[in-house]
Order: sequence, then C-alpha cells, then structure tokens
Amino acid sequence: MSPVEPSYPKFPFARPSGDEPPSEFHRLLRECPVSRVELWDGSHPWLVVKHKDVCDVLTDPRLSKVRQREGFPEMSAGGKAAAKNRPTFVDMDAPDHMRQRSMVDAFFTDDYVTARLPFIQDTVKHYLDELIEAGWDKEIDLVKHFALPIPSHIIYDILGIPHGDFDYLSGCDATRTNGSSTAAAAQAANEELLKYLGGLVGSKTTSPGKDIISSLVVEQLQPGKLEKHDVVQIAFLLLVAGNATVVSMIALGVVTLLEHPDQLSRLIEDPTLSKPFVEELCRYHTASSFATRRVATVDIGIRGQTIKAGEGIIASNQAANRDPEVFPDPDIFNMFRKRGPEEALGFGFGAHRCVAETLARAELETVFSTLFQTVPGLRLAVPKSEIQWAPLTKDVGIVGLPVTWDKV
Ligand code: HEM
Repeated sequence: MSPVEPSYPKFPFARPSGDEPPSEFHRLLRECPVSRVELWDGSHPWLVVKHKDVCDVLTDPRLSKVRQREGFPEMSAGGKAAAKNRPTFVDMDAPDHMRQRSMVDAFFTDDYVTARLPFIQDTVKHYLDELIEAGWDKEIDLVKHFALPIPSHIIYDILGIPHGDFDYLSGCDATRTNGSSTAAAAQAANEELLKYLGGLVGSKTTSPGKDIISSLVVEQLQPGKLEKHDVVQIAFLLLVAGNATVVSMIALGVVTLLEHPDQLSRLIEDPTLSKPFVEELCRYHTASSFATRRVATVDIGIRGQTIKAGEGIIASNQAANRDPEVFPDPDIFNMFRKRGPEEALGFGFGAHRCVAETLARAELETVFSTLFQTVPGLRLAVPKSEIQWAPLTKDVGIVGLPVTWDKV
C-alpha cells in the first residue's frame, strides 16, 4: 500500500471579512511557524510566518526568486504561464538582479522623491479638487475619483509619458486590471500598453528627456547593454507594479481612520502625524502579500524543518506584520505604537525590498496630510460591510468606496 499523502490547508487562506487578515495566521504564529500549504496546482510549498523567519528567508542567498526554476511557488495558472517570459529584475537573483535594478533606482532615492514632492502634492490637490467638485451634490466613489488616478499620474510622469497620453494609458490599465474585463480584453489591453511603450522608446531615442525611459534608452539601450524588449518590459513593470497597492492603501487608510476617530482628530490637528500613520498603516494592512516567494536551491533548515532543494517557500509578510513577539497587541491599530528595532515588512525585506518604497510612502503621506484636513467631515456613505472589498483570497484591498461629507 502506498503511503497516504498528508493533507495540507489550501492557500491563500481566506480573510474572514473585508480587511481582517486570515485568522489561520494567528494559529500558525502561535503553534506552527513553519508549515506546508496546498496551492491551486496541488503543489505543497512551505509557509513561514514569524517575523524573524520571513527576514531570514528574504536575505538567504540560497533561496532564489527565479520563477523558471522547478518548484517556484506560482499562485495561479496565469502566473505559471507568465513565468516562462524573459524576466525583469523583480524575478532575478544576484548579480543580475542588482545590475538591472540599479539602472532605475536613481529615480526612487530619497533625494529624487524629495525633489518630486511639489509634483506629488499638486497631483493629490488636483484630484482632491476634482473629488470635491464631482461629489458636491451626491455620494461619490473615492477609489475611482481620487485613489486610482494619483499613483498612475505620478509614475507616468517619472517614466516620461507625455501628459496628453495619461487618460489613454489609464484606460488601457483599467481594462487590464478590472476584474470584470474578459480575459481576451485584458490581454489585448496588455498588448496595447506594451506596443505604446515600444513606440515611446523609439521617440525617446530621437528626443530624450530626464525621465526613466530616456535614461534606459540613452544609458543602456544605445550602448548595447539592454535590448529594446528589456527596456519595454522594465517600463511596463514600473508602470503596473505598485499602482494597485497604493490605491488599496489609500482606501484602507480612509476606512481605518474613520474607525479610529481619536487618531483621526490628532492627524487633522497635526498633519505631520501622517508619517507615523502611514508607517502603522503599512504594518496593519499588508496589501502586497504574495510577492515574497522563493525556491530553495540547496537543502536548508528553518526551525528544525528541512526544506529541500527545489521546494518553494512563501514568506508571509502579512503574517509577520501581526507577529505578537515583534508588535505587541498586533491587531490594534495604533499610530503611536512604540517602535522596536524590527521594522514592519509591508514593503518586503532584503535585496528585493520595494524599489519604490520612498515614493509610495511620500504619496500616502501627502494624501493623509491633505485629505481629511481639507474635508474633515468625510465619511463612508455605506456601512463597512457593504464596501466593495477585493475577493477574500486575494490581497486586501477596496474596489469601490462610496463616501460623502456635509455640504454647505
Ligand atoms: C504601498 C505601496 C507598495 C507596497 C506595499 C509595495 C510592496 C512591495 C513588496 C512587498 C515588494 C517585495 C517583493 C519581494 O521581496 O520579492 C515590492 C517590490 C517591488 N515593488 Fe513595490 N510596493 C508598493 C508600491 C510600489 C510602486 C508604486 C512601485 C512602482 C512604481 C513598486 C514597484 C516595485 C518593484 C519594481 C519591486 C521589485 C523590486 C525588486 O525585485 O528588486 N512598488 N513591493
């Protein structure tokens, strides 16, 4: 008789409701920090949940991010198909990873983002004015009219996309990501975006500017260090990588503040508190929780468990952000929480840590030092349970957020 395969819980775990992380994480944090789960394709990668183990996984050079390696944990059939494409730095290991990442990271440094702050502030103000104008006589969707356009507008500008093309590109991107588009429409929008970027690479060759695509063309493509295909793919990556996460974090921030009126009042009085608010927001809600996956290239041990070469690992930054050993009372939202030496892991950790973290924080801090200060009476137009939440087995997020305020 062949041995019976043990059964493992299906992953991703479902959130019990809207913005609560899966309760399974609490149990695993207490009882079983290194476990196995079952993915959609029947594979059984390891799941690590403790803050320390997640940091160890994300800095271990024996673990790979190359998705073409056998055993890399893919989250869907679409992901498995995409893994066959030529990778960008997000899916590379050292030294290729840093070689390609360093071609763009000058556009995401503290200094660069500080220099772009006036543009970020103008963008937030522009969409806030539009929200107020469009919502003066009715309830209005804060996602569509405010959260969604802000991060795209900002990254389009940094990439060097002409302002006249912003609406066209936003339309393509919406079709690509909108869950109600057919697969064929989403695929066509994807191809249209890639074709558009290909054309833009051509025009930057003849008249470069001071933007990311121009820099890739002049410093990498023209000297023959990158092929055109790679320039287009890197631009595409930056165009789409983090927008949806920023959108979710804006909407989640609004809901979270309305649930914590004392902290909201303090923030309205003192907008500089947007910094600790965003810090706590990015711990409390982990809106990018599936990127931190790796595959072992040799046998390794974690807490006495052997993970064999070729086995996948999911390092859950979402669970680690609620690890009570690092964040006491982890389920309480407290922007005044005492910070220890360990950071929250919302932006990842190690070499692949989010390249655009400073930019994303600047966008969120600008939003939360402006939104409620301008519209202090902003409130939800529906009960929390009726918010259009992202599907419960996907990253936490909000698809539509009807809001209103007292109009005089
Ligand atoms: C609040 C917003 C954001 C969050 C929470 C977030 C989260 C993350 C996380 C967790 C990773 C780590 C993946 C890993 O370890 O494998 C990551 C990587 C990355 N993020 Fe973000 N991100 C955000 C915004 C953005 C934005 C706005 C962009 C683009 C403009 C962006 C571009 C990237 C890229 C290109 C990587 C790959 C870095 C590498 O592999 O070296 N992210 N992000």
